[in-house]
Amino acid sequence: MRDQPPFRLGILGSGQGSNFVALAEACARGSIPAQIALVLSDVPDSGILARARERQLPARYLPPGKFRTKLEPEAELAYAQALREAQVDLVALAGFMRVLKGEFLHAFEGRIINIHPSLLPSFPGLEAWKQALAHGVKVTGCTVHFVNAGVDAGPIIGQQAVSVLEDDTPETLHQRIHAAEHDLYPKCVAALARGEIRVEGRLVRWTAPAFPLSGATSKAQ
Ligand code: GRF
Repeated sequence: MRDQPPFRLGILGSGQGSNFVALAEACARGSIPAQIALVLSDVPDSGILARARERQLPARYLPPGKFRTKLEPEAELAYAQALREAQVDLVALAGFMRVLKGEFLHAFEGRIINIHPSLLPSFPGLEAWKQALAHGVKVTGCTVHFVNAGVDAGPIIGQQAVSVLEDDTPETLHQRIHAAEHDLYPKCVAALARGEIRVEGRLVRWTAPAFPLSGATSKAQ
């Protein structure tokens, strides 16, 4: 029997790339049965590109065009083309700071995921940990979800809770959410790569094994 071709991941990021590192390490040790086929960034000197190149993974800066919060249409086509040429099965956003629009969503329909630093649908948008603190919630966390045309609005794949502590600052809370992300994102990508995720409208079902339910993460643990 011939081996299955490896599941290929495309990763888009604009920042330091700590979630990319969590995914790359999980691929390297085999806990995600996939290979990283391409890393793309809209920021030429971003940490994510540097960290990908350190690992000898294909990594490219692609200019985003003139807008600040989205790709211009030609750029969107260039991103889609690069990912198609790299034959990616799944596009994982890891701190990509631009909203993806029609052409791109169409090219990879149902195959784009994102990680967001709150328990969606609470606190979509920017600096979700600051929104959580300002709101006085006692529990927040992170969410991995499919990307659709809304902002942080697609079907939810997995979530991990993080307790908000009395003396939290935006920095301390963000740091614990980041640590939870590094745990959650590889688990979700592994399940997708293994074909253990089924989408039924807005609902995402984990087939086998069941999603490991994660409790609140706090300093005390
Ligand atoms: C993460 O907090 C993620 O939730 C958000 O962007 C941040 C990226 O961080 N979408 P990093 O570049 O992976 O360290």
